[in-house]
Amino acid sequence: MAPIYARITGTGSALPERVLTNADLEQFVDTSDEWIQTRTGIRQRHVAVEGQTTGDLAFLAAQRALEAAGVKASELDLIVLGTTTPDIIFPSTACLVQHRLGANGCAAFDVNAACSGFVYALGIADKFIRSGQSKKVLVIGAETLTRMVDWSERETCVLFGDGAGAVVLEASSEPGIYATCLHADGGYKELLWNPVGVSVGFKDEPNHGVRINMSGREVFKVAVKTLDSLVEETLRAGGMEASQLDWLIPHQANLRIIEATAKRLNMPMEQVIVTVDKHANTSSGSVPLALDYAVRSGKVQRGQNLLLEAFGGGFTWASALLRF
Ligand code: UT7
Repeated sequence: MAPIYARITGTGSALPERVLTNADLEQFVDTSDEWIQTRTGIRQRHVAVEGQTTGDLAFLAAQRALEAAGVKASELDLIVLGTTTPDIIFPSTACLVQHRLGANGCAAFDVNAACSGFVYALGIADKFIRSGQSKKVLVIGAETLTRMVDWSERETCVLFGDGAGAVVLEASSEPGIYATCLHADGGYKELLWNPVGVSVGFKDEPNHGVRINMSGREVFKVAVKTLDSLVEETLRAGGMEASQLDWLIPHQANLRIIEATAKRLNMPMEQVIVTVDKHANTSSGSVPLALDYAVRSGKVQRGQNLLLEAFGGGFTWASALLRF
């Protein structure tokens, strides 16, 4: 039997209108535009306004991806949504978005893999399509991470932003996704975490004591090393050489981490999609936001080979090698 591939047939994204620049941050926290740009590459981030949720951004990104693919919501047979900032504990944000789109009846669930959430969701959706279980799948990465930021803590508050991206995947006899690699090591949980949940630590405060804790320097070191081996593993799994890649679409946490991965692949920065300057770290939103930007700006073209990768809390790390 001829293999079935999952092909991306449409992309979309959404960002809150409100923009917070590094200069804005200088007004209320002890930091500088110079420090933020040199250490991270970030110039600005988008921040959800009061009442604007992960589901709102996911819904908009999904509508745009469906429109680009020419697929109706009623044709979907699966929605997988990566997020660590769901609107409510349950139902899942995937269910909330499904109902708003009018896709009622199809399977819908969230994936919590921190910053690797979208790439995990893509890997799962790929398996559903390859197995013949699903034909048209909506994959979303969406976050409102700034809701968990302590705006007085300069080590973390300058790093994060809000946003969402989505793709429509369809079954095809043409590639498609060649390989996905998903990994986790829960032994690293305390280097990057938000240790508040239904059983632990909820406080009667405006943000319920919910805040991101990160040991930046340690995370940085493990991220660079892990991504080096991840990209090599992914190329091997897809039977491809680095020289055959057209674009690297990395997780947008820190420009220095992105540059290190590009160097490992021997890829010039002209072949790397960078949006961290405009979006900061949007966790699960980061890779699909970068992909949609790359597609809509005409950089990524049909038939090109893309390597997507992400690294985040857990730790989790994940990649996808595909022909667009
Ligand atoms: O998306 C999930 C994965 N996350 C990541 O991949 C993030 C990985 N880590 C990083 O990107 C970097 O480690 C950071 C951007 C978080 C920090 O950069 P760094 O070069 O590792 O800086 P550092 O933490 O070693 O701090 C250097 C100095 C410290 O001062 P001293 O001790 O040298 O006097 C900090 O207190 O920079 C200081 N600092 C700041 N200064 C101005 C830390 N944050 C700030 C700030 N503004 N916002």
